[in-house]
Amino acid sequence: MQARVDQPNARFLLGTGKVEELRQLKLANGADLILINHVLSPVQERNLEKYCECRVIGRTGLILDIFALRARSHEGKLQVELAQLKHMATRAVRGWSGLDSQRGGSIGLRGPGETKLELDRRLLRGRIQQLQERLDKVALQREQTRRGRLRNAIPLVSLVGYTNAGKSTLFNRITGAGVYAADQLFATLDPTLRRIEGLPCGPFVLADTVGFIRDLPHDLVAAFQSTLSETRDADLLLHVIDASDPEREQRMADVAEVLAHIGADEVPQLQVFNKIDRVEGSQPRRDAVDGGTQARVWLSAASGQGVDLLHQAISDLLGHDRVCTTLHLTSAQGRLRSRLYAAGVVQSEDSDDSGWQVAIDAPRARLQALYGLPDGDGATLRKALEADDRPQD
Ligand code: GTP
Repeated sequence: MQARVDQPNARFLLGTGKVEELRQLKLANGADLILINHVLSPVQERNLEKYCECRVIGRTGLILDIFALRARSHEGKLQVELAQLKHMATRAVRGWSGLDSQRGGSIGLRGPGETKLELDRRLLRGRIQQLQERLDKVALQREQTRRGRLRNAIPLVSLVGYTNAGKSTLFNRITGAGVYAADQLFATLDPTLRRIEGLPCGPFVLADTVGFIRDLPHDLVAAFQSTLSETRDADLLLHVIDASDPEREQRMADVAEVLAHIGADEVPQLQVFNKIDRVEGSQPRRDAVDGGTQARVWLSAASGQGVDLLHQAISDLLGHDRVCTTLHLTSAQGRLRSRLYAAGVVQSEDSDDSGWQVAIDAPRARLQALYGLPDGDGATLRKALEADDRPQD
């Protein structure tokens, strides 16, 4: 059933005529559950349930249920459970107050009822706190991983896109890792990280992230903040778009909105138009639009056509401002030398009695972030690196 709501009704969201229509529809079909594709307040949900005499779930509840089914990683599962419990906590009051009114003030029921209510509330609060603590721990681990990555100067490339655009399929294509991909909403809830090597730009970490949807309820965005940090911290976003989707322009705008909301709209973006096998006459290609500042690649993640163009584009975008130089390291600088190796920036090396001559090739921004170096040309950076006299960690 479709309903236009110009003035949301505080009691039901819908106008009373529409609510009655909904009730009749439920009766005619013998439905057990009504889904409303809109955010419902606890009061509206309760009133609709009472009026229609069946369970009613709003958009947030539904998305949470889907998230719960799709969550893969430990962190994702914790986040979903926490969001579900918080959602339930606002609704729980509703359920119990419903019971209260059914009891109609019967003597003898009030006491135990209240005790149970208090108990349930306490259990809920306790569980929420427990989950929050666990999540804080996981977030700390994530931060440590992030620092490790920064220390090793490895750029982060994140896949973003509307749900079902083909991110997981592309992730699999690039990594060869068997990440689950299926024709369902939210095949990806949790970021999955893989180190990619062998491209001209040097190693990078690829992150597969949660699929975006329009009007993602704000409390859900908050629940997934730490997961979405993978997107905000990225050096490059691969914005995957289903080229065969007639609504693709709208989807792209929806994704742009979520990116702005989580503070990731400044991250450089490569638009990847996927599923060209479903678009008649479409061939793999690479375009530069907006005078070359924004790049687009057209490919099919499923068939692999055009993925080589994507590799080139990633290499060009990550490697556009590189430092290629030779460092002269003394034998006392073994630690720095091993860190350069760990960062995957060493091209070749010679050694003699005084130490090593290490040829490096790395993105400038990464080297600067890694060693806290000042802005400067290759020679300045080289000097600063060679003078590396920080405590050896
Ligand atoms: P979420 O995790 O929900 O955000 O989805 P996703 O963006 O990760 O999409 P996923 O990779 O799960 O792909 C969604 C569906 O599109 C799957 O059925 C894929 O098989 C299909 N698909 C992905 N890439 C292509 C492609 O290049 N061509 C065709 N024809 N189908 C594709």
